Formats: sequence, structure tokens, C-alpha cells
Amino acid sequence: MSVTVRVPAKVNVQLAVGAARPDGFHGLANVFLAVSLFDEVTATRADGLTVTCAGPDADQVPLDRTNLAARAAEMLAERAGIEPAVHLHIAKNIPVAGGMAGGSADGAAALLACDALWGLDTPRAELLDICAVLGSDVPFSLVGGAALGTGRGELLTPVDAGTFHWVFAVADGGLSTPAVFREFDRLTAGTAVPEPEASPALLAALASGDPDALAATLANDLQPAALSLRPALADTLAAGTGAGALAALVSGSGPTTAFLVRDEESAAKVAAALEASGTCRVTRVASSPAPGATLLPS
Ligand code: C5P
Repeated sequence: MSVTVRVPAKVNVQLAVGAARPDGFHGLANVFLAVSLFDEVTATRADGLTVTCAGPDADQVPLDRTNLAARAAEMLAERAGIEPAVHLHIAKNIPVAGGMAGGSADGAAALLACDALWGLDTPRAELLDICAVLGSDVPFSLVGGAALGTGRGELLTPVDAGTFHWVFAVADGGLSTPAVFREFDRLTAGTAVPEPEASPALLAALASGDPDALAATLANDLQPAALSLRPALADTLAAGTGAGALAALVSGSGPTTAFLVRDEESAAKVAAALEASGTCRVTRVASSPAPGATLLPS
């Protein structure tokens, strides 16, 4: 018997970052938007816990217990007092270590898949608690849609969002999220970092579905840090806006860059121009919002 869960990638349309907290995490006001790039995680009964992965970047995915999918299975099994006897297969389409929460997505998907496979029927609130322990972005991967994340990003409030179209430019190699936050700390050292707050103008633009309004309000406080570690990303951002994107920003901690475009036709044009520019490895076209982790019919 096996169970498959489909789970989306995310982009942050606003990522307001506060000063480092005593626990090392940063307070955030983080407006998450799920986009239609999906991984699928299939859970199958097995003797022990194993993970496999297929897809263009599968060789960059760890298959040991550091994989959030494996940790999700372990945590759920421990809570239920059973052995994590499951094989997890990840069909990987979300860029790896790219700032699109691909690892977090697999954690949320594995949790939902194992819950169904083992017939546990864990209450949603408890699944969300496990997600928050797994990582700051994991609860949003479960929920999907559009949401404001506060705390370290794990405390979610749903927000309204119209439909938007995106192009994502995948860079060569990943960026480490902790390294980008450390660079943020270095760049802001000696300055008064304000309390992170969601932008009312951005939330109104998101709800309106007006791409020009959203383009004027996109903001990512981690972008200077990502650009400092990876200066070539500035060329990618410029190539996308030069090709007609309404706005460009680094996705989360990067190095994937996100381009807001007016419609599907413009998406295809911007993607082609980005690929021709030689400033990225590959592009993906997507729309938002997308649903969160969902069981697929067997
Ligand atoms: O929560 P998660 O395990 O995804 O976070 C990865 C790393 O990113 C943390 O160890 C921390 O260095 C950094 N981080 C942070 N503040 C946040 C979220 C993540 O400093 N709100």
C-alpha cells in the first residue's frame, strides 16, 4: 500500500526581518505565497525508514536522516509510539536549496503521507505543531495558499490573494539559509533593525489581484545579504526586468530569483529571455496561489 502527497513551493512576496533573537532565530513578518511548482512524496510500507529521490537535481538531495521527510516520519512515528517503517520516495521538481522551501515542502508532504499510510488521523493542529518543530517554513508548506507568517515564520494567519503569474530563475548551486541570515546580521550590525511588520499596502495589493500594485510593494530584507554572497544574482534580476517582468526579487534566502509578470504570455517571453541571457541555469513558470500539501487519489 502506498500514499502520495503533492506539495507546493513558496515565494515570499514580503520578507521583513528583525534582529536576531536570543535563540538565534530572527523575528519575521513573512508573507508566503504558494506557487504551482510541486514535489510529490510517496510513502510505502517497508521494514525500516529509507528515502529515495528522483528528478533533475536529485543528486543534491540528502537521503539520510537530515532530510526533513525522514525527520517528519520519525517524529510522527515517535508521537504515535510506532516504528517509522516506511519508504519515502520524493519526485523532486522544486529547486534544491533555492529559497523556495523545497526541503520544507517534502517534510510537510511526508508528514501527511505517513499519517494517512499509518491510519493515525492526527488532528491538524498537532500536524502543524510537528511542522513547526521541523522548520520555520514547514507549517506553510502544509497549509499553502497565501499566509502571513510571524514569530520565526511558523505562526500563520491566512491572507487573501488574487491570481498572479511568476517566472523563477534557478541559479547554479544553492545558498545556505543560515549563511544568508548571518550575512544579514553582518550587514545590519551597528544599525537599529526595526521590528518586522507586514505592509498593509502589500496585503491590499495581494488581495486585489492587481499585478502592478503587487509589483510596487514586493520586498525582501534578505535580498542585500543574498546579493552580497552571490553578486551575480544582480545580473539575473536585471535580465528579467529588462525582458518585461513587472518586478524582480530574490526568493526567500535565494539564490532562486522570482519575476512577477502580467500574464502567461509575458511569463513565456520573460522565461525565454532569461534562459537566453546566460544568467541562470534554468527557468520555471508558475502561478499563485496554489493549494498546500494534498493527498492524491490512489
Ligand atoms: O527553521 P529552519 O530550520 O528552516 O531555519 C534554518 C536556519 O535559518 C536557522 O537555523 C537560522 O539560522 C535561520 N533562520 C533564522 N530566522 C528565522 C528562520 C530561519 O535565523 N526566522
